[in-house]
Parts: sequence; C-alpha cells; structure tokens
Amino acid sequence: MPRKRTAVLISGRGSNLQAFIEAARAPDYPAQIALVISNVASAEGLERARRAGIPACVISHKDFESREAFDRAVDAELRAAKIDIICLAGFMRILSDWFVTQWEGRLLNIHPSLLPAYKGTNVHARVLAAGERRSGCTVHFVVPELDSGPVIAQAKVPVLPDDTEETLAARILAEEHRLYPEGLRRVASGEVTFV
Ligand code: GAR
Repeated sequence: MPRKRTAVLISGRGSNLQAFIEAARAPDYPAQIALVISNVASAEGLERARRAGIPACVISHKDFESREAFDRAVDAELRAAKIDIICLAGFMRILSDWFVTQWEGRLLNIHPSLLPAYKGTNVHARVLAAGERRSGCTVHFVVPELDSGPVIAQAKVPVLPDDTEETLAARILAEEHRLYPEGLRRVASGEVTFV
C-alpha cells in the first residue's frame, strides 16, 4: 500500500513533528511526512523540516482578512501537495468549520489532556489547580467543536505532588512523542476510521 502523504501543521517548537519524522524513517510506517506548514515564520519546527529535507512553507494568518481566507490558502497548499492526512501539532489556530468539514476523517490533533476533560488552553494549570491525580494526552479526529472529535489514542501519566506546569507538561510531552506517531499509524493503515 502506498504510504499516506501526511502534512504536519505547526506554530512553534515542533517536537511532535520531530517524532513523526523519526517514526516515518521506519520502512513499514504507513505514512510519510510530505509537507510542513507553519503559520509563524519563526517556528523552530521549520528548521526541523529543513534538516529532514521535507518541503515546508509559511502561511501567515496575518496576511489574510478572515479566518476562512487563511484556511482556503492552507487548503490550496495541501491539495497542491496531494496530501491525504493532516496532523495538527501545536498548531495554535482554530480552523473554520469549512476547513474541518473538507478534511473530516483525515484531520488529526493532539491535545495535552485526557479528553473530554480539560479542553481548550491553559490545561496543565487547570489540572494542577483541580488537584487531579492523573493527566495525559489524546490523539483525536478534529470536528468543528473544539477538542471534541472521536478519540484515536490516549495515554495517561501521574500528576505528582510537587509538579509544576513545566514538569507536568514535560511528562506529558514525552508520552505525546510516542502516542501521536502511533495514532497516525492507526489512521494511515486504515486500522481506525472516522465514523
Ligand atoms: C504539545 O504539547 C501539544 O499537545 C500542544 O502544544 C504542544 C506542541 O508542542 N497542543 C495544544 O495545546 C493544542 N490545543 P510541539 O510544538 O513541540 O509539538
């Protein structure tokens, strides 16, 4: 089966992009990272793409008058590159319902909580403030409602008594780097489909 052409959308550090790049080196991995798009020109992840020889481009949301106009530019780039699957990896823009509907079932996200708990931003601070004993991360299909699509994979970590936002985020991020490539593998291989 041909490997699924996958685009990774980023806004910053790109450590999950790096995890995909490494996973996709395995000859039997069912996806190849064919394109990286960043909405931020200074995103560290762009350098990771460059080092790996992956085509990358910047589409700045600031150059567009509306959310949908930006999304249409991203959509055009993805179609020109014949992308099959999109992974949002620290992409800090909310996509329009139009975009999400275009790519339904082929659009994945990772969120640093055990969804459906703690949707949205500022997750680790809220988890700590609530005194949770565990947290984690979730790979899910994207639907128009924020952080609400069907779950593809989830990993739990303990919340330790002396955790700060930084220590908890780091423990979860280490799990993300394992979980997101596994989630993409499930979708790219057809093992999991959107219902
Ligand atoms: C990750 O922790 C990811 O779960 C989070 O941003 C970070 C990106 O890190 N995403 C969200 O909070 C989405 N709501 P990275 O740029 O190093 O991959």
